[in-house]
Amino acid sequence: MGIIFSEKEKTFTLHTANSTYQMQVDAYGFLLHLYYGRRTEGCMDYLLCYADRGFSGNPYDAGVDRTYSMDVLPQELPTHGTGDYRSPAVVIRNVDGSYGCDFRYQGYRIADGKYALPGLPAVYARDDEAQTLEIDLKDRATGVEITLFYGVLPSLDLITRSACVRNNEAGKIYLEKIQTACLDWVGGAYDLITFYGRHAMERNVQRTRIAHGAQVIGSRRGTSSHQYNPMMIVAGQETTEESGSCYAVSFLYSGSFKGEAEQDQFGQTRVQLGLSDELFSYPLEAGECFYAPEVVLSYSDKGLSRLSQNLHEGFRTHLCRGKYRDLVRPILLNSWEASYFDFDGEAIYQFAKNAVDLGVEMLVLDDGWFGKRDDDLSGLGDWYVNEEKLGEKLEHLIDRINGLGLKFGIWFEPEGINEDSDLYRAHPDWVLAVPGRDPVRARYQLVLDFSRKEVIDYIFEAMCKVLDKGNIEYVKWDMNRSLSDCFSRGTKDQGRVMHDYVLGLYDLQERILARYPNLLLEGCSGGGGRFDAGMLYYTPQIWCSDNSDAIDRVRIQYGTSFGYPISTVGSHVSATPNHQTGRVTPFATRGITAMAGTFGYELDPRKLSEEEKAEMRTQIATYKRYGALIQTGAYFRLTNPFTEEVGAWQFLSKDQSELLVNAVMLEIHGNMPVNYLRLKGLPKGCLYQEESSKAVYASDALMEAGLPLPVEMGEYQSYQFHFTKVS
Ligand code: GLA
Repeated sequence: MGIIFSEKEKTFTLHTANSTYQMQVDAYGFLLHLYYGRRTEGCMDYLLCYADRGFSGNPYDAGVDRTYSMDVLPQELPTHGTGDYRSPAVVIRNVDGSYGCDFRYQGYRIADGKYALPGLPAVYARDDEAQTLEIDLKDRATGVEITLFYGVLPSLDLITRSACVRNNEAGKIYLEKIQTACLDWVGGAYDLITFYGRHAMERNVQRTRIAHGAQVIGSRRGTSSHQYNPMMIVAGQETTEESGSCYAVSFLYSGSFKGEAEQDQFGQTRVQLGLSDELFSYPLEAGECFYAPEVVLSYSDKGLSRLSQNLHEGFRTHLCRGKYRDLVRPILLNSWEASYFDFDGEAIYQFAKNAVDLGVEMLVLDDGWFGKRDDDLSGLGDWYVNEEKLGEKLEHLIDRINGLGLKFGIWFEPEGINEDSDLYRAHPDWVLAVPGRDPVRARYQLVLDFSRKEVIDYIFEAMCKVLDKGNIEYVKWDMNRSLSDCFSRGTKDQGRVMHDYVLGLYDLQERILARYPNLLLEGCSGGGGRFDAGMLYYTPQIWCSDNSDAIDRVRIQYGTSFGYPISTVGSHVSATPNHQTGRVTPFATRGITAMAGTFGYELDPRKLSEEEKAEMRTQIATYKRYGALIQTGAYFRLTNPFTEEVGAWQFLSKDQSELLVNAVMLEIHGNMPVNYLRLKGLPKGCLYQEESSKAVYASDALMEAGLPLPVEMGEYQSYQFHFTKVS
């Protein structure tokens, strides 16, 4: 059983296969956090130590007990107003204008299955796969209630958290801050691993000590952002890929967020993740509820590889949805880097015609097919087909492409709008803009006010009109700027707009998926600017980065792999010299790098040499052979491409009968030493045969001493080895 309540000890214990999470209702009704870590039995309240701490106040009902202070005790959901001066998870502005709440225990419910959240993404599970714990807390002074949700998925080693705040007051209150998850550790010394970056260079890895003084990451951009990813890892300072304790904290949310980590005055660690509290002041009328977006937690005592594998398996099978969830995704050719805005229907058809022979399965028509859109100055918002530019009807083009045996996909940017568009001329008030101020433009565009239902309704209808034109099996859903000027004409409470925007976006995606259940959505925001677990609920793959340079991609995909399944990583082979970096890399290297994700091409197949075409055929055949292993196998990072001269990774099938090892040389030097790749996760005492050389290796030697990579001339060589277990 995943969830146990002990009446005697007043503890709630959540067990997964390899972890235990425990909390306790104490004598005053506070919900204290006792333990999260390696699976164990017993009551961990012995960890709580009490001493009189100067300048750490005491709850009134503790009377003369000066050793009892919320400033010191580990908590499930610390609030402003109880004497805890660390960063709070919840701040409420009450009807009378006062700040504060003091939540005390009311009761609990345990049920089979996993809770869902209205209008928000959430991990899902069958009733026999998960349990839900709900704990009710109440502020005695105001009657405001909060229900904490815990989802426990034992076999996946995942615990999820959410909360619902209910305003039982007679008037309006404001939620000024709500962090979904708070993790308090009374002892230990930890590192924080975060994923920072920029457009076209997302998810670099930073590992720092959690020290005195808050370390805060987040986004105030209205999207989860290229700059920081809403996912953090807390790791023991000795923790490596293979050993040691670590915790993943991942936010299922695609808007502004805040992640905090800090050691307090006694060296205790607090880590929190949830909504950004900047420009956030969410009104709750009497009787209204607010749901905090979900956070997913996982613990591994076997290092970072296992932690990532927990998230990969959990997100791939219990967060991603739809027909394509368990399918190897179609190998696509995208028109963007092939032709940018400069194409007609015949050019797109010719891309398809040339690609089909090589094994491509889907043609994606990117930006430029609608409205007046020959560059990025105009047209966004006008979701009707520019037949004049195409030289034919869209339905005709789709039929021609389907006739070749290819699927057809198309690009949208539903949230974007250019001032030079019919939509803007008709509804200038539908954009986010502060009356009387010039809005900030980015890529010459503004943002539609997705916090308003009539805007969502309009875009939904406009998209449906296009999607109804023919057999469109895929949509690339883009978003090419950060939000600014977050003022909506739809409300008087501007502090709700950024969150309502995200709810509007999720609503639109849900409506599109409900109407077209077989449609494959690929998320995108200038590449990986909205690569978060929330988005994966709607789009089971996301274009990982606008940077398709194979060498940069090795690093971007390495960082991405910490938190996200390989099946969700949009990754393509593009032309050389690369359009983002000017770098020249071998075709084979671009192929091997793109095979660490959903596979495809982003180039004009007509311009390929016969030799390249032959390579492309081989690559596609290889991906078709190993696609399932790549998308569902256990993923291991074999090197750190930020610090080593080779980038390498491995896919191991669940039954350990086969593995695929990939390596890209990132540097070349005179008289190169040999690089040995130490493989991971193999069963002891077995033999594996490598396919091309037919050489047989002992699994222990492959893991202990490694596999030597050839020493070759030339930059950016790459290698792929497929092994099969022979005994
Ligand atoms: C974004 C995407 C690209 C492409 C362009 C089109 O930058 O990330 O892949 O779709 O928009 O404008």
